[in-house]
Amino acid sequence: MEEIKTETVVQEEEIKKVIPAERVILTGDRPTGKLHIGHYVGSLRRRVELQNSGEYDKIFIMIADAQALTDNADNPEKVRQNIIEVALDYLSCGLDPKKTTLFIQSMVPELTELTFYYMNLVTVSRLQRNPTVKSEIQARNFETSIPVGFFTYPISQAADITAFQATTVPVGEDQLPMIEQTKEIVRRFNYIYAPTLVEPDSLLPENQACLRLPGIDGKAKMSKSLGNCIYLSDSEEEVRAKIMSMFTDPTHIKITDPGHLEGNTVFTYLDAFCKKEHFERYLPEYQDLEELKAHYTRGGLGDIKVKKFLNAIMQEELEPIRQRRKQYEMDIRGVFQILKEGSLVARERAVQTLEAVKAAMKINYFDDLELIEEQAQKYSK
Ligand code: TRP
Repeated sequence: MEEIKTETVVQEEEIKKVIPAERVILTGDRPTGKLHIGHYVGSLRRRVELQNSGEYDKIFIMIADAQALTDNADNPEKVRQNIIEVALDYLSCGLDPKKTTLFIQSMVPELTELTFYYMNLVTVSRLQRNPTVKSEIQARNFETSIPVGFFTYPISQAADITAFQATTVPVGEDQLPMIEQTKEIVRRFNYIYAPTLVEPDSLLPENQACLRLPGIDGKAKMSKSLGNCIYLSDSEEEVRAKIMSMFTDPTHIKITDPGHLEGNTVFTYLDAFCKKEHFERYLPEYQDLEELKAHYTRGGLGDIKVKKFLNAIMQEELEPIRQRRKQYEMDIRGVFQILKEGSLVARERAVQTLEAVKAAMKINYFDDLELIEEQAQKYSK
C-alpha cells in the first residue's frame, strides 16, 4: 500500500515539474556598500568562472536596489550611490556585459507584480520561520517595528529568481533559506495554477573558507561597520597593510612556538586564495599548503613569512581587478549605459514570465477570447 502511494506522489511531481529549456543563472547583490573580498571568494569569482565556462545559456546579475530599500527606506541616497560601486566591482572582476546581463532590479517592474501574486502563496508564519529573515531582524533591531517590505523580501527574491526562469542561483550559505522559499512558491504555484515556473537550484562556494571569509581581525564576518574588510577597490598598499595587521594565533609568540591553524585568519585566507602553483612562484621551498601548515603547526615558521606569501598571492589576484576598475572608472557614463541596456534585456525576459504567470492564473482577461465569448453568450441569453 505504502509503495503505491509513494509512486503516485512521484508521478504527480513529474507532471507538475517544468523542464527548463535552458540553463540560466540569476543572482545579485544589494547595493549598500562596495564589495569586499568576502563577496569575491564567496561569489564573484565563481560567477566569472561560470560565465566563462560556456555551460550556461544565459546569465543575469542583478543589482538589488529595491531589496536594499527594504531596510534602508530612510536612506535611498546610500542605495543610489552604491549602484555604481557594485557595477564597477562586477565589471572589474571580469563580468563581461557581452556574456552576462547586468541590470538594476527596480528597472524591471514586472518583478514587483510577480511578488504581489506570490504573496498569496506564502503564510506569515512561514516567513517568520525563515532563518535568514529571523537573524536579519535581530541584527537590525527590528523586533518591534519590522517594515512589511523587509519582512516579505523573500517573496520578492522568489520573484527575482523565477522571473528569469533561473535554473541555478549561485549564493552564499545565508541565502539558502531564500532558495528553499522560492522552491516552495514554485511548487505551490505550479500545483494550484499550471506548470509554469522553473524550480531553481542553489550553487554554493567551493570550500568552507570561501563560504564565510572572516574579517582581518579574525571576527566571523567581514563587515563595513566592524572596519575589518579588504575591499576589491583597495590599493596595493592598503591590501598589504591590512594583511600585515591580520589576526593570526595569539599563542604563537616566538617563531619556534608551535602554531595553531584554527581561527588563524591568514591560513583561512590561504585556504580561499592559494593554489599549488603559487608555491612554485613565491615559496618554492614548500610543495603545497599542507606542507606549509604542517611546518607552522610544528613551530619554526614565522607569521611574517606566511603573511608575505599571502600578500603576494592576493596582489596577483587583485591587480588585474584594480586595472580593469581604473579603465571603467574613466568611463562611468559607459557603465550606466551597460546597466541600461542590461535592464532592457532583463525586462524582456521578465515580461514573458509575467505573461505566462497571468495566463496560468487566467487573469490575462483581454487575451482570453474564450472568457469574453463565454460571458457574451451568458448575457445574450
Ligand atoms: N539577498 C541577496 C543579498 O542580500 C540579493 C538578492 C536579491 C539575490 N535577489 C536575489 C540573490 C536573487 C540571489 C537571487 O545579497
